[in-house]
Amino acid sequence: MKILLTGGSGFIGSNFVRYVLRDRDDIEVVNLDALTYSGNPENLADVENDPRYTFVHGNILDIELCRKLIGECDAVIHMAAESHVDRSIIDARPFVESNVLGTQTLLDAMRKVDPDNAKTFVHVSTDEVFGDLPLDRPELKFSEATPYAPSSPYSASKAGSDMIARAYHHTFGMKVMVTNCSNNFGPYQFPEKVIPLFVTNLIEGKKVPLYGDGRNVRDWLHVEDHNEAVLAVLEKGEPGESYCIGGNNERSNLELTHAILGAMGKDESWIEPVKDRLGHDRRYAIDATKLKTQLGWEPTRSAWPAALESTVKWYVDHAEWWKRVKSGAYRGYYEQQYVNR
Ligand code: TYD
Repeated sequence: MKILLTGGSGFIGSNFVRYVLRDRDDIEVVNLDALTYSGNPENLADVENDPRYTFVHGNILDIELCRKLIGECDAVIHMAAESHVDRSIIDARPFVESNVLGTQTLLDAMRKVDPDNAKTFVHVSTDEVFGDLPLDRPELKFSEATPYAPSSPYSASKAGSDMIARAYHHTFGMKVMVTNCSNNFGPYQFPEKVIPLFVTNLIEGKKVPLYGDGRNVRDWLHVEDHNEAVLAVLEKGEPGESYCIGGNNERSNLELTHAILGAMGKDESWIEPVKDRLGHDRRYAIDATKLKTQLGWEPTRSAWPAALESTVKWYVDHAEWWKRVKSGAYRGYYEQQYVNR
């Protein structure tokens, strides 16, 4: 099987490429990536000469290029997206362009080259499309039946892209499936997201900026668990269905921060409480029963402390990677200060 992967040079995509090349010798991957600020060819430097891997520099908004590449592949996994909430608060436009228009362009390209709907399309999305959950109702979780109620410009743009993907299944009979994952963590994550930001700040001797009261909860999913689930959906999922992917690993930001400080031998004085994110979602949590009962998938790599500690160690061991990334386009925390000024 030959897969066209969009956004394969980003955090989740590059881990997907490495995972498939390592574990599945029956799969080839073509990576279409625009290499915007977070897509980084260095993320795949170790596999760039693998005969089962091809890199194409280009944009999902380029319909001719998408048609050509989809025509040469058996399936599409669509990961390319703008994904950082704080950036979407500063400027929502790239989010609507890449996430909504980009997804529609890709689906239209597929429709043209695959009129008999022989190919499969997995649209990779987020649990943030469901909005947020209250902190005092731990029994509540998101599932495939939860209504969409996105609350940030980022999640609204992903919700729009999910709706387009579902509509193309309903209207044209395309074999489209949607996945909604919780917060990913692991190697090669852009250091604007909380885990790599906090770990790399501490290595640099800087404090960690904890938003608000630190009680917000996220369900942490190891990126390789996520990618295994995405592949299971591609190979065994039902067209028109959506699948929630979670790590069974809910933690408050305070708990997360203490775990990182502990893994790095630092005390609480390294926490810098800062103003809260605008419209900060309180809690995300996934009920992944459908994936378990229908496709036989459950997370096996997400449990803490082991998975968090190995991730912290990866950033400690790969300082040359994140130092180059941070010295370039990285502006996340400072932009946040700008928003809250
Ligand atoms: P983030 O990694 O941006 O993911 P998301 O907003 O998509 O969940 O943030 C995870 C949590 O960490 C979120 O509740 C916001 C919080 N956070 C901080 O407290 N400080 C920070 O500097 C960042 C980037 C996030």
